[in-house]
Amino acid sequence: MTDLNISIFKERRAKVASQMESNSILMLCSSNIVPRNNDTTFPFRQDSNFYYLTGFNEPNSVMLLKSDGTAYIFCRNKNPELEKWDGFMWGYQAAADEFNFDDGFDINDIDQLAPQIINGTSTVYALVGKNKDFDQQVIKWITAANSMERHQGNIDLKNFSNQLGMMRLVKEDSELSLMRKSCEIAALTHKAVISKAKVGMSEFDLETMYLNEFKTHGSKDISYTPIVAGGERACILHYIDNNQPIADGELVLVDAGCEWGLYASDITRTYPINGKFSAEQRAVYDVVLEAHNKACEAIQIGANCTDPQKASELSLSQGLKDLGFLTQSMDEIMDKQLFREFYYHKIGHWLGLDVHDDCPYSIGEKEVTFQKNMVMTIEPGIYVNQTANVDDKWKGIGIRIENDILATDTGYENLTSLVPSNADEIEGLMQ
Ligand code: GLY
Ligand code: MN
Ligand code: MN
Repeated sequence: MTDLNISIFKERRAKVASQMESNSILMLCSSNIVPRNNDTTFPFRQDSNFYYLTGFNEPNSVMLLKSDGTAYIFCRNKNPELEKWDGFMWGYQAAADEFNFDDGFDINDIDQLAPQIINGTSTVYALVGKNKDFDQQVIKWITAANSMERHQGNIDLKNFSNQLGMMRLVKEDSELSLMRKSCEIAALTHKAVISKAKVGMSEFDLETMYLNEFKTHGSKDISYTPIVAGGERACILHYIDNNQPIADGELVLVDAGCEWGLYASDITRTYPINGKFSAEQRAVYDVVLEAHNKACEAIQIGANCTDPQKASELSLSQGLKDLGFLTQSMDEIMDKQLFREFYYHKIGHWLGLDVHDDCPYSIGEKEVTFQKNMVMTIEPGIYVNQTANVDDKWKGIGIRIENDILATDTGYENLTSLVPSNADEIEGLMQ
């Protein structure tokens, strides 16, 4: 089951409305169809914030929510001619009925109706800064509303991003069951491909196998473009060419996840294409795994959300020192952040409807702290570039281990544990 019960979206709108100032209105827009090249488009993917509060999966749509809980949907009018080309569309009346809105309107009328609806309100909320075009539209509607009645106060525009992001951060039980399924599919996919990987397979071959396994397990969409990076290409964090051979003796780093009911999973594994880590590969791998485990342990209710970052930096730095990559004292390594030469990204990110979930890490000066049912990726890495001041035998090794971690009452749960993280078990899978 990939769909949430439709009543959940109305419940979320009620929760949002209870956080809004009196006499205010929140405006949110859908994604639109994005052209790929002449006469072709990318597959449609709904905006996650819009989906979270509507459950409505069509482009060209806007939701208006008043602080008294009244909600309107603006969307495409039903058009049987267009449906012959683009498929089913709800139409605004059926959309309002089906998705529990108080009324529905033709999106073509929004420039006329939105100023009338917001006229007389004190505050308009939007997710300011997320969609430049929609921000401009909201300002245009506020301007039009302000000019309708000169003898009233100006309407304030306020950003609702932090409030909505904090709501999305704590997953409901129904969301968690979708996330568990997304993580299960991604983990089974990694496990299946690792167990079939062999010398002679290229990055492209492996990518094909991952995409096929995701679909075989029922996931229609990937949650981001996979990274399949053999050898030193693993040191390029956003490598997506995925088109090179992988030499016997090289590692391959694969960062690949899928969606289930629009919820993302995000897993990285790094493994030797010939099934056996070399001594150097294994030594670096174990340092990364130790940092991964320490970062997971830092996920505790009430802890700061950057505690896993700090735990990973400390653990990796000790490991880099033990390997001889860094020779300074631990104090100097930490003070000057010398580990950054080998570990040049953050420990992870919130995970949910977006792979980098659109949720805050701090509000003002105050860091977000872990609460039960938040999900964060933990993904430390070590990347030894050719420019590093280390023995040549280490150069070109790039290793990342990434799992999706749920904050629980008692600590944490690894949602992607179905694919092993430790080196012996990975070798075992490849025999
Ligand atoms: N796959 C994207 C990331 O790991 O952040
Ligand atoms: Mn990630
Ligand atoms: Mn990833």
